[in-house]
Amino acid sequence: MNIDTNTGILGLIGYPLGHSISPLIHNYSLKKMNLNYVYLAFELKPDIFYKGIEGLKALNIKGFNITIPYKKKILSHLDQVDQIADNIGAVNTVVNNDGKLKGYNTDAYGFKKMLEKDGDFSIQGKKALIVGAGGASRSAGTVLCESGIKELYILNRTRDKAENLAQIWKEKYPDVFIKSEELNIDFYKPLMKKIDLLIDTTPVGMEPEVDVKPVIDRDCFHSSMLVVDLVYNPPQTTILKAAKKSGARTLNGMPMLLYQAAEAFKLWLGKEPNIEEWYQIIARKKITPTD
Ligand code: ATR
Repeated sequence: MNIDTNTGILGLIGYPLGHSISPLIHNYSLKKMNLNYVYLAFELKPDIFYKGIEGLKALNIKGFNITIPYKKKILSHLDQVDQIADNIGAVNTVVNNDGKLKGYNTDAYGFKKMLEKDGDFSIQGKKALIVGAGGASRSAGTVLCESGIKELYILNRTRDKAENLAQIWKEKYPDVFIKSEELNIDFYKPLMKKIDLLIDTTPVGMEPEVDVKPVIDRDCFHSSMLVVDLVYNPPQTTILKAAKKSGARTLNGMPMLLYQAAEAFKLWLGKEPNIEEWYQIIARKKITPTD
């Protein structure tokens, strides 16, 4: 790629940024598709967050991704927010239209596409259980409610947090049966029998602490369920191994990560990157992405 006076800038904002794969995959496709842009990482310290965003606008950056800890904080700096991002209350992709910033949540898009395409799972009318009540749980639960889930159970180690999320969803989605509980085997063991979809949004089993007990007891899975762990490093976490042993279908979070990036690319540039090539370059580099 030849950088010249017309080269456009895309980027990632977060703090700290760790080993993000976003620069690798986006720059790969920009080059391959002959698009005159570069994708850069900007580690913005919290005390200069606002100045940084103003700077990106002043430099006419075409668009950027937002990651931890700014997915909520960016909302007050945007001119417009897409509907699903607004419902979730978090933005991970921003498009700059001549100084007007619009926020999107392509994590939500990626999550739904992963269920449908890689999980061959149709959300409408199903029963789902989410473990964890942080940001990832909030996105996943909102997508499920928006897409016609019939029953949604949210379990968390700290019960209050699950209760708060359930309350928000109950008000917004009165047609969905929603229940929150503490993460307790007495509650989830009977429930698991009728669950079609289990989503683990906790970091349990993530590198380096891979040899731990799964967040749901090994005896509770069944063969007609889909089990999703949003962790992708390692690709087979403790919960996915246990679920597989019971004959359940399993997915890790890697497809979601790539779909969210592809959707952001499309929002900025109107073109579709080749995701198969992204899988290949990630495998070739043997890297362990964080975002
Ligand atoms: P994210 O934004 O990725 O969802 P988060 O906001 O830190 O991350 O949320 C992590 C979730 O995993 C929380 O619900 C947390 O439970 P608490 O609310 O009780 O802290 C849950 N979690 C983290 N470690 C856990 C563990 N060892 N067992 C069970 N749940 C755990």
